[in-house]
Amino acid sequence: MAILIRGGTVVNADASARADVLVDDGKIVAVGSDLDPPLGVEIIDAGGALVMPGGIDPHTHMELPFMGTTASEDFFTGTSAAAAGGTTMIIDFVIPDPKENLLGAYKKWRGWAEKAAADYSFHVAVTWWDDSVHKDMGTLVSDYGVNSFKHFMAYKNAIMCDDEVLVKSFTRARELGALATVHAENGELVFHLQREILKQGITGPEGHPLSRPPAVEGEAANRAIRLAQVLNTPLYIVHNSCAEAIEAIARARSEGQRVFGEVLAGHLLVDDSVYRDPDFVRAAAHVMSPPFRPKANQAVLWRALQAGIVQTTATDHCCFCAPQKAMGRNDFTKIPNGTGGVEDRMQVLWHHGVNTGRFTANEFVAITSANAAKIFNIYPRKGSVAVGSDADLVVWDTKKTRTISAKTHHQNVDYNIFEGMEVTGANVVTLSQGKVVWRDGQLDTRRGIGRYIDRPPFPPYHSALMKKAALERPSPVLRAAAAE
Ligand code: URP
Ligand code: ZN
Ligand code: ZN
Repeated sequence: MAILIRGGTVVNADASARADVLVDDGKIVAVGSDLDPPLGVEIIDAGGALVMPGGIDPHTHMELPFMGTTASEDFFTGTSAAAAGGTTMIIDFVIPDPKENLLGAYKKWRGWAEKAAADYSFHVAVTWWDDSVHKDMGTLVSDYGVNSFKHFMAYKNAIMCDDEVLVKSFTRARELGALATVHAENGELVFHLQREILKQGITGPEGHPLSRPPAVEGEAANRAIRLAQVLNTPLYIVHNSCAEAIEAIARARSEGQRVFGEVLAGHLLVDDSVYRDPDFVRAAAHVMSPPFRPKANQAVLWRALQAGIVQTTATDHCCFCAPQKAMGRNDFTKIPNGTGGVEDRMQVLWHHGVNTGRFTANEFVAITSANAAKIFNIYPRKGSVAVGSDADLVVWDTKKTRTISAKTHHQNVDYNIFEGMEVTGANVVTLSQGKVVWRDGQLDTRRGIGRYIDRPPFPPYHSALMKKAALERPSPVLRAAAAE
C-alpha cells in the first residue's frame, strides 16, 4: 500500500526542504511540495516534524556465539528494537572460528538472519588463513555482496589475527576492491596484562579496563594503519574509544591515507567509572572492548566526529544478560564482552549531538546513516530520502522526550547502559521497506521480512601510480625535517 508522508521537512545529509514523500512498493516514488495523494493512499501527517533516512548501524552482533555463550538478542528481536529507535538497517558480522570455512560460516549466519524484521548485511571476519580463505574472500565479493572484511587484533587464542594474517588478508581485500576493517587492540598485550592483573588478586570487572589501557588500542590502530599504508588498502577502524586511536587516524588522513573510523554511542557518553561500581551485576553489564574510557576521551571522540576524522556512529550491539555476565564472577577475563544500544543510538546522538549544537540535523543524517551507506557502498539506495531510494524512513519529532530504561526498551537484554537518560528528539514513526513498523510507541515488525542487502565492491583505485604515491608520501615529521 502506498503511503504519503505529508507536510514534513525532508532532511538529507546535504540539504533540507519542506516536502511530501510518497512511498510505494518499498521505494520512495516522489518527493516534492504538495504532492497529490493517489486514490486510497494512507496519509501520515508529518506537520512540524522532520523526515529523515532511517538509521544504519554498521556494527552489531545479533545472536553471536562468543566467549562460551550466545548473545541474547537475535536477528528478529534486534532489528525490531532497532526499528523502535529509528534504525532500519544493520550491518552485522560473520565471525568464523579459526579453521572454520569462511563460506560455510557466511551461509550459517545468513540462515540465522532469515528471521530479521529489517534489512541487514554482513561484514565477514577473517580469523585465520589458508588458500581456501583467499578463494572464499573472492567468492564472497563476487557472488555474495560482501565488500568488507573484519580483522580482530584482540581476543588471543580465539579469533585474533596475527600480522601475517593481516598482511595476507589486507592484500587480498585490496585486490578484490573490498574494505579492510579492524578491531584495534593489541591482543598479546591484553593477554599479558590480564595475567598480571589476576596475579595481583584483581578478579572483578575493575580489572577489565586495567587490562586494556588506551595505549593497547593506539598501538593496534597505528599498526593497522601502517600495514594498510604499505599495502595501499583502504581501512576502516571500528569502535575507536580513545585519543590514541583518534590521533592515529587523524595523522593518517592528514597524510592522504584512505582511513575511515567509527565511534560508538556508548563511548561518547559512558565513562570508566562504571567499572568501579561495587555491584558486580552493574559493573559486569558494562564490560565490553575496548572498555569505556576516562571521561576526557569523550570530548576527543565528539570533536573527531565533528571534524570528520571519524565518519560513522554505531553501537557494537552485543547483548549478554546477567546470568551470562556471571560466568566471569570470579575472573573478569571470563565476562562475555558486549553491551547493547541499537535502539537508543539515534536518540542519544540527537539529544547530545544536535540539541547541544555540535551537529546540524543534516550532519546528524550523515553520521547516523548516509556516511555508513557511502563507506559501505549502498548509497543512495540507503541513507537518502530521494526518488528510487528504499523507503526506510523516520518521522522525527524534535520535541518528543523519552527516558531510556531497560524496563521499557525493546532490546532483549536486562540492562541498558543509558539507563535513566532523558532524551529529547525521537522517531514517532519508522518505515521499513515502505511499511510502518513503529508508530506512537507501538512496534509492528514482522519476523523474516528483512532482506539481505548486497554491497558491491569498490571500483579499483589502487593503480600502480597510487601505490607508489602512497609509499612515497612523506610523513609530516619527515617534511618538517626536510624543511629545516
Ligand atoms: O565487547 C565487544 N565489543 N564485544 C563484541 C565483539 C567486538 O569486539 O566487537
Ligand atoms: Zn570489537
Ligand atoms: Zn563488535
